[in-house]
Amino acid sequence: MSRRSSIPDSPIDRLKEISTWISSVLDLDELLELIIEKATRMMQAKASSLLLLDRKTRKLYFKVATGEKKDEVRKYEINLGQGIAGYVAEKGEPLLIPDVSKDSRWDKRISESTGFQTRSIACVPMKVHGEIIGVVEIIDKEDGNPIQYEDMKTLTVFAELASLAVGSARKIDQVKRENRDLKEEVANKYQIVGESKRLQKVISDAFKVANSKTSALILGESGAGKELLARLIHRAGPRKDKPIIVLNCAALPETLLESELFGHEKGAFTGAMIRKIGKFELADGGTLFMDEIGEMTPGMQAKVLRVLEEGVFYRVGGNIPISADVRIISATNRDIAKEVAEEKFREDLYYRLNVVQIHMPALREMKEDIPLLASHFLDIFKQEKGLQHLRVSEKAMEKMLEYNWPGNVRELRNALERAVVMGNGREILPEDLPISAPKKSHSGMEVGLTLKAAEDNFKKEFITLNLQHSGGNRSKAAKIMGIQRTYLSRLISKYRLQEI
Ligand SMILES: Nc1ncnc2c1ncn2[C@@H]1O[C@H](COP(=O)(O)OP(=O)(O)O)[C@@H](O)[C@H]1O
Ligand SMILES: [Mg+2]
Repeated sequence: MSRRSSIPDSPIDRLKEISTWISSVLDLDELLELIIEKATRMMQAKASSLLLLDRKTRKLYFKVATGEKKDEVRKYEINLGQGIAGYVAEKGEPLLIPDVSKDSRWDKRISESTGFQTRSIACVPMKVHGEIIGVVEIIDKEDGNPIQYEDMKTLTVFAELASLAVGSARKIDQVKRENRDLKEEVANKYQIVGESKRLQKVISDAFKVANSKTSALILGESGAGKELLARLIHRAGPRKDKPIIVLNCAALPETLLESELFGHEKGAFTGAMIRKIGKFELADGGTLFMDEIGEMTPGMQAKVLRVLEEGVFYRVGGNIPISADVRIISATNRDIAKEVAEEKFREDLYYRLNVVQIHMPALREMKEDIPLLASHFLDIFKQEKGLQHLRVSEKAMEKMLEYNWPGNVRELRNALERAVVMGNGREILPEDLPISAPKKSHSGMEVGLTLKAAEDNFKKEFITLNLQHSGGNRSKAAKIMGIQRTYLSRLISKYRLQEI
């Protein structure tokens, strides 16, 4: 009775108090200290400690210690299997030792060197998902009595609490780290690389339009970076924390496109098993990037126009008007003005989408950016494939600079990826690149050449073209040209075409 009155609240109350800390104290060290302090007081122990297992060194170190010698013990590290704590950490089973002097596992070095008298110990493991992460131990009662079995049971509860705290803190750390990595990765993935005047102008235009809700239309060839630019506009504007949703108008037939865009109610059509939220709704507060709008059917064009004019739409099979605050960025590789003139694309929709127009230049118009782009992609692939020392040979760079890149940056990226995979791992050579030099047309068609010289010019170019086409594979090139491989080799030496 007297003992109870000196501790005013019941164990349940105290546990409740602890659970309040766990939800309110965000700092792990502080939390562990609170837990151990509480455990010590509750069991009226003379000293207690919490040791964590270092994952790398596989040694236990003191994370929290109480009692007279708490600062001195912190210096020690304990091997797995060493002493009581080491034994518990190794076996994963709790241990109660009423008299340590009678137990062979007891390693008296620490208590001897700190001068701390120890008689009884209870030690329990801390586990997260079955993995041992440390131990909690208490030493003797304040009144000199040995630790009891009941105390060890209580200690087990505290060890579980502490494990929970460590587990959540690690989880939070991991999530934070992943989140940070992911953000970096996304920013990296969508980074626009290039210093050419043309590109810089495009980027500065993009920043200008980013701050308004104005519809922007991005024109440019396939692979030129239109989607990348749309993402930049989104990221640079006030909607950046809301999603950018991409809808490819070319990918789907009209009926599916409609439900992609507006969503559908359950049972709206055969196969509509559940309600589906459309991209327009998903983009609420953010940006909808409508790619390849030139491919939209007239029916779809009319539906999109209606939404843009009225600001509301209906899910397929639904009758509740839904409004969404969406910024529209669209893109096409077609000559859309011509399509409008030819009445293939609705003029009224064109005006709605084309409030601001940005033209993404083709790669051949920004050739000075090729080295920078190449090294940007190479860095990515080097990392992916673990080829740290890979570089681009001068000849390969020349070849890239000469080439016309009809598939633009996408083609450059793919060409480099292939070269990284197929090459020797040290240096990218011209033949690793799946591209052929632009045709110098009509070789040999010059006045002033002998027929023989003109014939030679033609042969040289013809062979070069075929070798490049077959990625430097002579057998393949010979087969295509319908000649013997040995003959091809002779011609290659004769015309000094070994470099290809
Ligand atoms: N300036 C650039 N810097 C870095 N990567 C680029 C650049 N332009 C295009 N890319 C890359 O090329 C590929 C094609 O770009 P994308 O934006 O999809 O082109 P588009 O939409 O015009 O077809 C993507 O992998 C993109 O990341
Ligand atoms: Mg695209």
